[in-house]
Amino acid sequence: MYKVLIATEKPFAAAAVNGIKNIFDEARFETVLLEKYTDKADLIKAVADVDAMIIRSDKASADVIAAGKNLKIIVRAGAGYDNIDIAAANEKKIVAMNTPGQNSNAVAELALGMMVFMARAQFKGGSGSELAGKKLGIHAYGYVGKHVATIAKGFGMKLYAFDPFIDKAAIEKDGVIALDTVEELYSTCQYISLHIPANDKTKKSINFDLLSKMPKGATVVNTARKEVVDEYSLKRILEERPDFKYISDIAPDCHAEIVDKFENRYYATLKKQGAETSEANINAGLAAANQIVGFLQNGITTFQVNKF
Ligand code: 3PG
Repeated sequence: MYKVLIATEKPFAAAAVNGIKNIFDEARFETVLLEKYTDKADLIKAVADVDAMIIRSDKASADVIAAGKNLKIIVRAGAGYDNIDIAAANEKKIVAMNTPGQNSNAVAELALGMMVFMARAQFKGGSGSELAGKKLGIHAYGYVGKHVATIAKGFGMKLYAFDPFIDKAAIEKDGVIALDTVEELYSTCQYISLHIPANDKTKKSINFDLLSKMPKGATVVNTARKEVVDEYSLKRILEERPDFKYISDIAPDCHAEIVDKFENRYYATLKKQGAETSEANINAGLAAANQIVGFLQNGITTFQVNKF
């Protein structure tokens, strides 16, 4: 009998956990639940004898992977798999998967909510501005970017995107202007919504040079990863441009330095909220469970993100 660990420091909604358990019960797999753990040692202990593991932003680091003596597959119930040490997984021939698209509407709704929050002076009572007619630059046009476009259209925003990996015609079909360079996106748009993954090429890539190209009244919304924004540049632009605003779903490392100083132009969640809806938990959690059953029973590797 296969044994599957659900390791979620930030737990799924109960309905998602029940749904995942039902899928594993039907497959005659045993489910082990490790929620709200605060010590990595608990994860290392829990992974020791399982065949598969579902995680969210939990870190599947090399030592966690090494501890999983029977581990065959790790599924990140979500989009970004920068929390899985892929080299360590490859070395042990462990399949790593994500569940692309499953939580993207939740993240997109938050991105637009964050735009409204910043445009309306953080609901502190001051006069704000409207999103209608403003230019929104969608930086990376994957599942989340596409949802952002759909919702932003309802607000009457003018839509632009930059994504070198997606055919321009596919973007323009959605009524979004596809730009050729990232520089053009930043110099055109007053609002930028970040949807790039965090990897060696993108980390710290949102730098002063790019940010300083944005027109007056600039707002950057980051529901991607804090690591993609260069924090030195962020502090500098906030300092030099009194019109510049930044909102992030999860605080940057420099949060304590900037939170009071720029309180009306900066906001960050202290725990990642993007995928924190029961719908997203159910979509991503059940997809993860089905992918594990498909792999362990039938060797199905759709959504595998590593190669070994
Ligand atoms: C993702 O990459 O899917 C999101 O960042 C969601 O992360 P979470 O599952 O930890 O909320």
